[in-house]
Amino acid sequence: MGQKNPQVSIIVPTYNESQNIVEILKSIHENIPKGIYTETIVVDDNSPDGTGKIVEEYISNFLKIAENTINIIHRKAKNGLSSAILNGIQNAKGDTIIVMDSDFSHPPHIIPKMIEAFKQYQCDLVIASRYISGGNIQGWTTKRKLMSKVATLIAKKGLNVKIKDPMSGFFAFKKNIIKELHFDALGYKFLLELLVKTKEINVKEIPYTFENRKFGSSKLDGYTIINYFKSVWKLYKNGKTKIITEKRNSVHFLSKAARFFTVGLSGFGVNYIISMLFTFGLTDFWYIHANIFGIIASISTNFMLNKIWTFEDKDFSRKRTLTQYGKFSLFSSLGALVQLGMVFWLVDSHNVAYPVALILAISTAAFSNFILNKRLTFKEKLWN
Ligand code: GDD
Ligand code: MN
Repeated sequence: MGQKNPQVSIIVPTYNESQNIVEILKSIHENIPKGIYTETIVVDDNSPDGTGKIVEEYISNFLKIAENTINIIHRKAKNGLSSAILNGIQNAKGDTIIVMDSDFSHPPHIIPKMIEAFKQYQCDLVIASRYISGGNIQGWTTKRKLMSKVATLIAKKGLNVKIKDPMSGFFAFKKNIIKELHFDALGYKFLLELLVKTKEINVKEIPYTFENRKFGSSKLDGYTIINYFKSVWKLYKNGKTKIITEKRNSVHFLSKAARFFTVGLSGFGVNYIISMLFTFGLTDFWYIHANIFGIIASISTNFMLNKIWTFEDKDFSRKRTLTQYGKFSLFSSLGALVQLGMVFWLVDSHNVAYPVALILAISTAAFSNFILNKRLTFKEKLWN
């Protein structure tokens, strides 16, 4: 018994799951398709409720009746879900890996469908998805649903992930797709890191209904959420450089200019709102002081947006960022002076109507600002 090499490794991380673990192991076993040989790897973080001991006992009985095997990895302390998954993967012998929770939120009857999907769709990664048609969530509070949606949106927009449910904790993949990858395994979202770091893989999402656990409680806490933001940020910074498909320089130049002016417009909004807030809302500052705050705030948001979006500069080292911020503020102030001077000059010496002069002056200042920042703050060639 247990001589054959397993084809599929099922990884089940646990922390305080004494009320669920035996039932889930049984249910997993019942759902393994005939003819497929599996190993189930429980990764327990020294659960205070004795989950690890329960599994040990179960294994010693189980081995006598089944061909599939169950193993347990005991870790010293609660070290996070992602790192538990990674530990499981490192010990897995199968060339297909399935990752799932131990609290019945991920129904084991999906396992055969996952295994089938590899064959049917010739894919390397199968994701059990709540957010495609046929998928659902049961028993979550509105707050938790909202959190999940927001996290999903951040992943999709921020990391350019095309999957409907990149936050899923229920997925299966061919082990060879992670061969040369290094994982940080921060927090909960192992799948997201996998999606960002793998290149050119075929992904298939299959629907399932997530049911909130009946026993025990979720281990997701504030710390997990902070870790989520940390890991998204890390993935973003180290992310693959975008493949540029547009080759005409004129298009690059214009699209960057368009972004720069859009950011400028948003700065106008920030400036206005902050200035009003400090005058009438939060405090009753003298309106000039309030306006100074508005200006500083809008320069700062403009700077960040231009760095991240317009010029797509991902180097956030302190020295570089501060230097850039200094230059950007300088050019912004310079732009204001140019604008004032030009309005005065047009109206006073050329009798141009004020509204027209204003438009001319603002455009000139915005354009020269764009050129200066492109060339000197973000050190790009002028025409690319
Ligand atoms: N070893 C170990 N160490 N296991 C952990 C740890 C840990 O630090 N934290 C959680 N687990 C185990 C739990 O015992 C459970 O089996 C599984 O990981 C999921 O933890 P839950 O606390 O039940 O998470 P959840 O239900 O709030 O969130 C789940 O569903 C989300 C939506 O699909 C997770 O699977 C998330 O990854 C997923 O995004
Ligand atoms: Mn759960």
